[in-house]
Amino acid sequence: MRSPQTDTQVESAEIEIGLRTIPSRYFLSPLAGYTHLAFRMAIRELGGLGLATTDLVLASMLVSEKPKSMALIATDPDDRPLSVQIFSGLRDELVQAARWLEEHGYQAVDINMGCPMAKVNGNGGGARLMCDTENAQATVAAVVEAVSIPVTVKMRLGWDSNQITAPELACAFEQVGAAAITLHGRTRQQGFHGTVDLEGIRQTVEAVDHIPIIGNGDVRTVEDAQQMQAVTGCDAVAIGRGAMLDPWIFRKLAQVNLGESPTEPTAEEQIDFLVRHFTLMTRQHAEYSCLLFRKFAGWYGARLGIPEDLEDRLRRFDSFSEFDAIVQEIHHRHGERETSIPTALLKVPNGPIDKW
Ligand SMILES: Cc1cc2nc3c(=O)[nH]c(=O)nc-3n(C[C@H](O)[C@H](O)[C@H](O)COP(=O)(O)O)c2cc1C
Repeated sequence: MRSPQTDTQVESAEIEIGLRTIPSRYFLSPLAGYTHLAFRMAIRELGGLGLATTDLVLASMLVSEKPKSMALIATDPDDRPLSVQIFSGLRDELVQAARWLEEHGYQAVDINMGCPMAKVNGNGGGARLMCDTENAQATVAAVVEAVSIPVTVKMRLGWDSNQITAPELACAFEQVGAAAITLHGRTRQQGFHGTVDLEGIRQTVEAVDHIPIIGNGDVRTVEDAQQMQAVTGCDAVAIGRGAMLDPWIFRKLAQVNLGESPTEPTAEEQIDFLVRHFTLMTRQHAEYSCLLFRKFAGWYGARLGIPEDLEDRLRRFDSFSEFDAIVQEIHHRHGERETSIPTALLKVPNGPIDKW
C-alpha cells in the first residue's frame, strides 16, 4: 500500500509505464468514434499530450485482420506513444490479440474492463470482467505472460455501488504484472450519470504498491485536472470528453505546469485545427472523410461561432472542393454567431442501463 502523492512532493512531467517513458501525465482517454488517428495526431500537434489510446477493438476481429479493426488501429510514426485497447470476454482471444499487436510492432496493449454496453458485457467483456476478481486477475496474468510489451487495464470503480471492486482488482492486477491502471470514477451501473467519485479513485491509488493509477472522469478544465490529482493522488490523468470540448486542454496543462498562464487558441488557430483534422483524416479515408467529418460540424460550429448555414454545409459536404469553400467562408464569417464551448455534442448512451 502506498500514500498518494501530496502537493509538497515534486512530480516530474514524465511518467514511466512499464518500460516506456511517457512525456506528460495528461493522457487522451479513448472515445470510440472520435479519438481516431486523425484526431489523435491533430491533438498531439497542439502539444502537451502524453499517452493516447485507440478506440476499443474486438480482440477476435483484430486477430482476423478485419478491415474495420485495421482502420481502428491505424497509426503513424508520429502517433506515439500509443496503446491499443482490446476487448473480449474470452481470455484466449485477448491473449491472441496482444500477441498479434506485439508481432506487428505496437508498443502497448490496454484491456477494456470498463465498457458498460450490453453487447460487450453480454459476452463477458468490458465491465463484466470486473465481477469476478479471480477470473479477471487470471486474464490479465495470461496477457502479461504472453507479451513483453506493457499491459494496462482500463476499468471502472466496480459493477455497481454494492460491488466496488477497483481497489481489490488493481492490487490483483499489479501482482500479476499490469503496468498501469486507468480508473474511470463511476460504476458500470452509473453509466455516464452522476458525478465521478474521486474518493473511490483515491482508495484505489492507496491500494496498490507502485504501479501508476491514471484518474479519469469529468475532467473538462485545467482546474478539474488539478483537482483530480490533488484529491485522488493519482499519477496521471486521462481526459476523454474534455479533450473533445477543448483540444487545447493538454497544451494548457503543460503551460500551467511550466508556471505559465494557459493560453486560449485564437480563432485562426481553431480554424487551422479544423483544417488539419480534416486533412489528416483524408490521408486515411480519402473521399470518405467528407462523411466521417460531418459529425464534428456542430462542435466546430459552436466553437468558432460560425453561422448556422455554414455549420449546415459542414454537416452535408461531400467533396474536398466544397470543404475548401466552406473553410474560406469560415475565415470571413467566424464569430458572426456567439462562440461557445459546446458541452452536449458528444452523445453518451442514455436511458435505463439495462437497455444499453
Ligand atoms: C462516446 C464515448 C466513447 C467511449 N469509448 C471508449 C472506448 O472505446 N474505450 C474505453 O475504455 N472507454 C471509452 N469511453 C469512456 C471514456 O474513455 C472515459 O472513461 C469516460 O468518458 C469518462 O471520462 P471523460 O469524462 O474524460 O470523458 C467512451 C466514452 C464515450 C462518451
